[in-house]
Amino acid sequence: MPGKVVQSVWTDISPVNSQAIEDTGYATQKPEALLERIIKASSNENDLVLDCFCGSGTTPAVAEKLGRRWIACDLSRFAIHVTRKRLLGIAGVRPFVVQNLGKYERQVWQSAEFKSQNAEPSSIQQAYRKFILDLYHARPVKNYVWLHGVKGGRMVHVGSVDAPVTAGDLANIAAEFKKAVGTGQDAPATNGVDVLGWDFAFELNEVARQQAAQANLDVRFFRIPRDVMDKRAVEQGDIHFFELGALKVDVRLPKSEETSEVSLTLTDFVIPLDDVPQEIQKSIKHWSQWVDYWAVDWDYKGDAFHNQWQTYRTRKKPALELSTTHRYEQPGEYTVLVKVIDILGNDTTKTLQVKVG
Ligand SMILES: C[S@@+](CC[C@H](N)C(=O)[O-])C[C@H]1O[C@@H](n2cnc3c(N)ncnc32)[C@H](O)[C@@H]1O
Repeated sequence: MPGKVVQSVWTDISPVNSQAIEDTGYATQKPEALLERIIKASSNENDLVLDCFCGSGTTPAVAEKLGRRWIACDLSRFAIHVTRKRLLGIAGVRPFVVQNLGKYERQVWQSAEFKSQNAEPSSIQQAYRKFILDLYHARPVKNYVWLHGVKGGRMVHVGSVDAPVTAGDLANIAAEFKKAVGTGQDAPATNGVDVLGWDFAFELNEVARQQAAQANLDVRFFRIPRDVMDKRAVEQGDIHFFELGALKVDVRLPKSEETSEVSLTLTDFVIPLDDVPQEIQKSIKHWSQWVDYWAVDWDYKGDAFHNQWQTYRTRKKPALELSTTHRYEQPGEYTVLVKVIDILGNDTTKTLQVKVG
C-alpha cells in the first residue's frame, strides 16, 4: 500500500477544538478521528468494542457510527450523562440501555461495615438500617417488617442496598401501616411515611404516589445519598437526604375516533433544591431550565425504556421544546413513559395511561 507506516507516537491528529461540533465540554475528551483510527485498525463491523472508562463517550459514539456493537462504562454520573446524550444525537442510533451497576460497591460497603463475627444476614440488615436511621435522625422501631423507624410522628422505611424500592414494596408498607395503627408505643402517630431508597423503580414516582394517596397515606420519597459510605462525611454530620423530583405532564387525547394523535406537554418540574449549588439556583428563572433533555417511550411494556422521541437544546436551538405529539398506528390502551433528565444528570420518570380509538 502507498503511504507511510504509522509510528507509535501519533501527532497528526489534533486535540478537540472548543469550537468543534464534536466538543462536549468534557475535560479529557479525545478526538473522534483518533478513535476512528483505533477502532478501524482493530475491529470489523458488528464486532464488540469495550471502553471501561468512556468519559464523554468518544469510543461508543465512533463505534456506533462505524457499525460496531459497544459497551461503555464510567464511574462518573456526569460522564454517563454526557455519553448518553451524545449517542442520542447520532442520526439512526440503534437502541441501547443504560444500566446502573453501583450496587456492587454498596453491597461490599454493607458487608464490610456491618459484619461482626459470624453475623447472620438479618443482623447485618438490622445494623445497616439502624445506621441509616441514625443519619436520618429517626428512631428504630421493632416488630415490623416494612416499617423500620419513626421520625417526628412519621414512620420510616429504609430501602435495601441491592434493589430499588418498587411499587410492590410500597403496597407492603401501606398494608403494614394499616395494621399497625392504634397498636401501642411504636404505632404510627400520623398518616405519614418517609421512604428512603438508593434507587426507585420507574413506575414509583407518580403511580406509587397515587396508590399511597388512595390508601390515605402521605408518602414522601428520599434518596439515600452516596455520602453515607464516606466515613469523613458521616463524621462531619454532613449527610442530607433529598426528596425525589416531581414532574407534571398534560396529556391531550384524540378528540374523535378518527384521529389517533396524543400530545404531551411538560407543565412543571420541581427538583429538591438542597441538592443544587447556590450559584446554579440563582441563575434559574423558569422551571424548564432544570430540564436538560426529555424523552418518551410511547408504548412502554414494563421492561426497557425505548427512547422513541427526545428533545434537547442545541447551539442553534437554545430553547427547549416542551410539547410533543405521537400518532398511534393501532387503536388500544398504551402506557407512556416520560423521562426527564435534569441538568444535574438525574432521571425523573412518569407513566401515563392513554386510550386511542
Ligand atoms: C481520560 S477520561 C476518558 C476520556 C474519554 N476517552 C473521552 O474521549 O471522553 C477517563 C475516565 O475514566 C473514568 N474512571 C476513572 N476511574 C474509573 C473506574 N475505576 N471505573 C470506571 N471509570 C473510571 C473517569 O470518570 C473518566 O471519565
